[in-house]
Amino acid sequence: MTSHSLTAAAAGTWRLGDLTVNRIGFGAMRLTQNGAAFSDERTPHDRDRAVAVLRRAVELGVNHIDTAAFYFSPLRSANELINRALGPYPDDLVITTKVGPGRGPSGDWTDWARPEQLRGQVQENIRQLGRDHLDVVNLRMNGNRPVSELFGALAELREEGLVRHLGLSNVRPEQIDEARAIAPVVCVQNRYGIGERRADSQEVLRMCGDLGIAFVPFFAIAGAGRESGAVPEHEAVVDVARAHDASPAQVRLAWTLQQGTHVLAIPGTGDPAHLEANVAAGALRLTDDETARLTALGQPTGADVA
Ligand SMILES: NC(=O)c1ccc[n+]([C@@H]2O[C@H](COP(=O)([O-])OP(=O)(O)OC[C@H]3O[C@@H](n4cnc5c(N)ncnc54)[C@H](OP(=O)(O)O)[C@@H]3O)[C@@H](O)[C@H]2O)c1
Repeated sequence: MTSHSLTAAAAGTWRLGDLTVNRIGFGAMRLTQNGAAFSDERTPHDRDRAVAVLRRAVELGVNHIDTAAFYFSPLRSANELINRALGPYPDDLVITTKVGPGRGPSGDWTDWARPEQLRGQVQENIRQLGRDHLDVVNLRMNGNRPVSELFGALAELREEGLVRHLGLSNVRPEQIDEARAIAPVVCVQNRYGIGERRADSQEVLRMCGDLGIAFVPFFAIAGAGRESGAVPEHEAVVDVARAHDASPAQVRLAWTLQQGTHVLAIPGTGDPAHLEANVAAGALRLTDDETARLTALGQPTGADVA
């Protein structure tokens, strides 16, 4: 699929609180190294190439970038690359970060943050990104733990002006309710894609739409093992891609965007050609039959994955 008017605006916009973003955004997790995001065995991406990808994304109209201080490989940090590539930041750029997971300097995963540690994690992101506050911070959960205390700690930082808007990640519907009782939630970032649905995905998707919350899927392209080519692509995805002269990755992105106007895409890549393909996917419209065929693929996976 080629496009003569390549722009991230092709799929329209959505508001994260008072911030308007194009629905095609960018995920920075893949910028730091080739292949699997957190493996020490991979080679770091060339810094200039990663910087060029970020600059090209913004040139194409991407104004929503997802990142985290814990997105780093031995020699590259996603936040540092964003700072270097895009600072001083364009006025309309919205950078979303996430906190919760703990990661030491050597890349080892440590305990999940306690509420009183979230301030430090927010400040770490602010320092690395070279800002005075963060636009959107997602509380990344694991398991069925209550969100109240953690979200309450973030709500205090929001009141102080260190954070403009709050979101959630890897959560169940009741955790969204719990958080909303404390402070407004502007986005929910859960694993979601063709054949990659959590058991509660449709409920979370619908709930977010009803409440005006952005639903932001991660792993919309990669899914389980496809990044390494270990899992062959579904025949239906290949068929639909062929019909549109598109790639399977573009079909996967288009399918997520068609699940609702509140769905935002944050495809991750360190490859300039893939970036352009992902932006072009915002203009791809699937027919109802195609969408239904793709929706039928795969059964929901467990409720707490990734
Ligand atoms: N909230 C959370 O817990 C959470 C968890 C995971 C990720 N995230 C966020 O979500 C973003 C998206 O997730 P993700 O990066 O893991 O997965 P993804 O966007 O579904 O897929 C990325 C993988 O697909 C490849 N790819 C990207 N565009 C492609 C294209 N057009 N054609 C073929 N291959 C393509 C990339 O490799 P190349 O680099 O070679 O293109 C990479 O291996 C992340 O970057 C991160 O910001 C959030």
